[in-house]
Amino acid sequence: MAKEQLIIFDTTMRDGEQSPGASMTKEEKLRIARQLERLRVDVIEAGFAAASPGDFDSIRAIAEVIKDSTVCSLSRANENDIRRAGEAIRPAVRGRVHTFIATSPIHMQMKLRMQPDEVIAQAVKAVEWARQYTDDVEFSPEDAGRSEPDFLCRVLEAVIKAGARTVNIADTVGYNIPQAWGALFRTLRERVPNADQAVWSTHCHNDLGLAVANSLSAVLNGARQVECTINGLGERAGNASLEEVVMAVRTRKDFFPVETRIDTVQIVPTSRLVSQITGYVVQPNKAVVGANAFAHESGIHQDGVLKHRETYEIMRAEDVGWTANRMVLGKHSGRNAFKSRLKELGVELNSEEALNTAFARFKDLADKKHEIFDEDLQALVSDEAAADHEERFHLLSLRVCSETGETPHAVLVLTDNGVEHRAEADGSGPVDAAFCAIETVVASQTDLLLYSVNNITSGTDSQGEVTVRLNKAGRIVNGQGADTDIVIASVKAYINALNKLMGGEIRHHPQTPHAV
Ligand code: KIV
Ligand code: ZN
Repeated sequence: MAKEQLIIFDTTMRDGEQSPGASMTKEEKLRIARQLERLRVDVIEAGFAAASPGDFDSIRAIAEVIKDSTVCSLSRANENDIRRAGEAIRPAVRGRVHTFIATSPIHMQMKLRMQPDEVIAQAVKAVEWARQYTDDVEFSPEDAGRSEPDFLCRVLEAVIKAGARTVNIADTVGYNIPQAWGALFRTLRERVPNADQAVWSTHCHNDLGLAVANSLSAVLNGARQVECTINGLGERAGNASLEEVVMAVRTRKDFFPVETRIDTVQIVPTSRLVSQITGYVVQPNKAVVGANAFAHESGIHQDGVLKHRETYEIMRAEDVGWTANRMVLGKHSGRNAFKSRLKELGVELNSEEALNTAFARFKDLADKKHEIFDEDLQALVSDEAAADHEERFHLLSLRVCSETGETPHAVLVLTDNGVEHRAEADGSGPVDAAFCAIETVVASQTDLLLYSVNNITSGTDSQGEVTVRLNKAGRIVNGQGADTDIVIASVKAYINALNKLMGGEIRHHPQTPHAV
């Protein structure tokens, strides 16, 4: 039987960005958007245009470059929000406005202070305003998971009549369980008279750890769009994880009447990119994208897998983009081999100059590390992209002394707007000493919220990938750096974060304002 398409709507850059500390710069959002397009997601929710000028600019920039996925902006159900969303998506080949208003008694009474009939009227007006910008309008009843089904039917009928093409039933607080969520879809689709004129979508939060299960139950009851995020990132306990939804539908094609367009080999590279940019480390036992998702520890399992892989594996690691630390290049590899491997990895550098810089960095790395794996190449280009070449602070040199019984000491030279400064400091360890030395020059008045190191490949010669999260008076940014020397990687990450905070760029921490 022919399968129906399940639309994959990614909200990593909107709901995902609402995770504390996960805010992204415009450049980072563009990198993620390009990777999501490579992953072949159908809809990219690029942000919430009215939240800030920065969010508006990011959505617009994404709308300008993305050709194969629909680009969407969220908006509350008020005219200003909708006009901002409509303007932001205007350059897109396919643009969507997603508007929402709460429909649960508790939200209507306590938050909106609106009568149910006023909510319906506002929802209809919102859809009509949005239709002035695009035919592709999505409407979400917020907190549908705690709304009265009768009222939901009235709202949904009215917004579909007003022109909403997608209706997205949101379990905003993650309150539902799979059977109840599936039954709600069945009821709504049976009782809303014009139900067949819209695509039904599910948006589940993970407060009870049920976001993926609830989404799949909705699919079994007629949902044809799932809203999800890479690595399950999102407000509080997160959203349904894209990789789990996609691989469940694909692995159990005997069970689900739908298929997705997702290029599954891009799943792990996308997961890595999002983790690296947001600083949200993926837990090792996370399904599909966790480091242990395909590792067999028990002897019995190893023996089984060696004899016949399907004894203990329901998916193939390579189908979701895991590569087996394959040595791909070395110090004798030429520029062409480097360029073509990057192309195979889906990495496009936008100028010959960028390619030359990346190649020079590759040669430096190959001098330190004999075997260069795909993961190293990905980190290398990410590191290159993370470094803003117009950056205010730039590291020129670093020396650290760390010896048993002695206080670690760091000496470094960095430039601030081109002016060289030498600094030195002691610290409790070499990383602390280096950060203290930087602070003697920069005096950033920031708090370090997160410092994390991951090895990119196995072995002690692996590159370390460091994420640093800094808070300056409520503005939170992440910085990244990679190097075979983890102190240098740490300093790169720290300077990257300082450049974002103090390099003149206006940053924000977006919050979806939960009112009209
Ligand atoms: O969780 C929620 O209700 C949302 C809506 C804006 C769809 O994110
Ligand atoms: Zn949400």
